[in-house]
Amino acid sequence: MINPMSLEGKSIIITGAASGIGRECAELCYALGANLLLLDLNKDGLLTLKDSLDGSNGSVIIREVDLKNLDSIKGVIADAKNELGCSFTGLVHCAGIPSVLPLRALSIEQFERVMRINTEAGLVLAKCFSSNSGHDTSKQGSIVFISSVYGVVGSAANVAYATSKAAIIGMTKSLAIELVKKNIRVNCVAPGFIKTKMANGISSMFDNDYSDKIEEMHPLGWGEAIDIANVIAFLLSEASKWTTGAVFNVDGGFTAQ
Ligand SMILES: NC(=O)c1ccc[n+]([C@@H]2O[C@H](COP(=O)([O-])OP(=O)(O)OC[C@H]3O[C@@H](n4cnc5c(N)ncnc54)[C@H](O)[C@@H]3O)[C@@H](O)[C@H]2O)c1
Repeated sequence: MINPMSLEGKSIIITGAASGIGRECAELCYALGANLLLLDLNKDGLLTLKDSLDGSNGSVIIREVDLKNLDSIKGVIADAKNELGCSFTGLVHCAGIPSVLPLRALSIEQFERVMRINTEAGLVLAKCFSSNSGHDTSKQGSIVFISSVYGVVGSAANVAYATSKAAIIGMTKSLAIELVKKNIRVNCVAPGFIKTKMANGISSMFDNDYSDKIEEMHPLGWGEAIDIANVIAFLLSEASKWTTGAVFNVDGGFTAQ
């Protein structure tokens, strides 16, 4: 039977794979047949994930990387490409950090830290992926960035995070046009609130009603990591071969209101 979402024969880089959306995405891409290069700060999380995969599908390479060190990214990708013995066909930049701070308390250092990991690391990853050290132009490549509803609509005490996620939308559209000639599609997903470590961390900063308030903001309620992973997998697969420069609001109706 034909599966248009199959990722067999594809080799995909996923950042932030030790937790939340990145981890769910790694599990799904593996189940759909992809080889994986999984990057994260959290080495234990990567090891636990690798151990949990049953070993019956593609190859899985894990690397402990701090993406704020932008200069280290190129070497990591080139080494993994050699180890895998083939070029990469997909890149998903899931790693990210929140920043809940009002303007009066936000330092430029914190703003730059958020931009560095959420946005600039994505740009450097895309640069490596689209160069000779990453992708083979004879095969269609797919880059997927993760934005946020807060890259689309405003939110108080969130300016650093929102700026980093809005920039991802601009980056997606411009790179989609630029990288067509390299046979690479570029899209992004803008999730609403998903129950992960990041969202739990934000919830714990507020009172007990916060989770209920978040639920009310989404007509379909809180999301799950698999809701985002399914769309990412679609964007990595042949099923989306005519989709580029698109922003997918996967947010339980948050931005439809
Ligand atoms: N959870 C949500 O509600 C939500 C909503 C919208 C967008 N997002 C975005 O989805 C993405 C994934 O978020 P999540 O909820 O799964 O969070 P998470 O905290 O569960 O996972 C993020 C992962 O990124 C890794 N990471 C952070 N900084 C890193 C660095 N410097 N180098 C390498 N790895 C690093 C962490 O170790 C972690 O494994 C993020 O970009 C986030 O902004 C999340």
